[in-house]
Amino acid sequence: MHIATAADTQHWWRDAVIYQVYVRSFLDSTGDGIGDLAGVRAGLPYLRKLGVDGIWLSPFYPSPHHDHGYDVADYRGVDPVFGDLREFDHLVADAQRLGLKVLIDIVPNHCSSEHAWFRAALADGPGSEARKRFHFAEGRGENGELPPNNWHAMFGGSAWSRVTEPDGEPGQWYLHLFTPEQPDLNWRDPSVAASFDEILRFWLDRGVDGFRIDVAAGLFKNAELPDSPDPMADERSRDSVNPLAWNQPEVHDVWRQWRAVCEEYTAADGLDRLLVGEVSVPTAREHAKYVRPDELHQAFFFDLLSADWDHDAFRKTISEALTDIAGTGSTVTWVLNNHDQVRTVTRYAGETTTVGPSRARAAALLMLALPGAAYVYQGEELGLPEVVDLPDDVLTDPIFRRTGSRLRVRDGCRVPLPWSGQASPFGFTAGGDGAARPWLPQPEWFAEHATDRALSDTRSFWHLYRDGLALRRNLPQLGEGPLRWLETEPGVLAFERGDGLVCAVNFGLESVPAPVAGTPLLASGDCPPGILPGSTAAWWISDLSTKGTSS
Ligand code: GLC
Repeated sequence: MHIATAADTQHWWRDAVIYQVYVRSFLDSTGDGIGDLAGVRAGLPYLRKLGVDGIWLSPFYPSPHHDHGYDVADYRGVDPVFGDLREFDHLVADAQRLGLKVLIDIVPNHCSSEHAWFRAALADGPGSEARKRFHFAEGRGENGELPPNNWHAMFGGSAWSRVTEPDGEPGQWYLHLFTPEQPDLNWRDPSVAASFDEILRFWLDRGVDGFRIDVAAGLFKNAELPDSPDPMADERSRDSVNPLAWNQPEVHDVWRQWRAVCEEYTAADGLDRLLVGEVSVPTAREHAKYVRPDELHQAFFFDLLSADWDHDAFRKTISEALTDIAGTGSTVTWVLNNHDQVRTVTRYAGETTTVGPSRARAAALLMLALPGAAYVYQGEELGLPEVVDLPDDVLTDPIFRRTGSRLRVRDGCRVPLPWSGQASPFGFTAGGDGAARPWLPQPEWFAEHATDRALSDTRSFWHLYRDGLALRRNLPQLGEGPLRWLETEPGVLAFERGDGLVCAVNFGLESVPAPVAGTPLLASGDCPPGILPGSTAAWWISDLSTKGTSS
């Protein structure tokens, strides 16, 4: 087992807070209604002021956008809708000048059906080298009219689609764990690994600080592609997965190789690079395997994101993560929101919509007080609720289409950000009257959350995040380091960080006595001395007289 040393703790990523930029919804510099890289560049001073350590850019590569860029047609370019490579270089340079790290999204499990690799596979026909890059197989049934196995796709329907061969006849089938426009790459073919090695180097040479790796527990499938005992697992929910299609042991070799590439760059210039994986696996223990010392630096720990607003659920989730992941020598990577999930303000609202914002604020202070790294999704710092009533005809999420309009999941958290003013586009698009409307409609009530308003209101979410981030940067107890649980009132989660920094969250609705006397350093809502109101979190500095239990 790796024992953390002083050298480990100097790595910037171990307790970094990274801001997720969903590029098409951040800021539109051209007036076409879609956010772009120049818009991100213009927003960098805002992010610097917020106090994050870096940004993660969602995919900006050339793409037909069946899944908003997670269907990559060229891994080494910029889609004209977002800008070009020159603009990308300017963005990286500006960000780094401001002290912000830049991570880009990389999608190795699948590419776009419009990628040259897949076009060649279609054109070259069965048995060709080009087909080996993907999972092509003969169908079952008398005339091959049935899919090769019973797997379902994450986004609904069969995980297989049949192609028309160059001779015009129906032919082989190919595997896609997401949409048919996202054929899965076959990582058992060495040319796939070799291509990604070059792609990593292409972007590292352009100066990126690291990569967010899409579906990092994917890539390898059981080599025989047998029927699954639970074929609907992937389609049913994100919490159940087809064990034959995910989390295969071979995937760890890929992360070792990618880590080695990063280390090579670090050896040359002394700068740490970061690999953060989107890892959805059933247990914290499985998760921990992805962040062993020679694999990924970080993996998003989604269990907190999926935990209900419940004291016991949060405590159990946090304890498991700290125990299992700390054992690897890495730190936990916390996340409450991202571009695939209902926003916390809405998710925590339950039946009573008024508590959603208070709970989301409390959860934010909790997350920023936990040991390890954290990711903040754009708009989270504005307290944006989910837009739940988008009309069907504007929805673009392939899950909606693929489930026969049953699941409206991911558009509501992707609505373009409000920056200023009283009416849409709220400063999101440049270009005045001639500008196109934002690609998803912004509701009128977005005005209440616009950044100009948030910045001038000291009680806003923005100020809470800004103050929390500033304290986190300055207080030695926060960021990496020990956590000790404190026993306090029922329904209250309380812990001490380092020496005397106490964080407590009241999950209930009623006020309780605070675990620490005196005025808090920072609180997510009104918090008079000695009292912790319902749905509120606070931080205090204390010479603790409270009794505690170690984690
Ligand atoms: C990841 C992304 C999601 C995308 C999927 C397929 O889960 O976060 O947005 O649709 O991978 O690439």
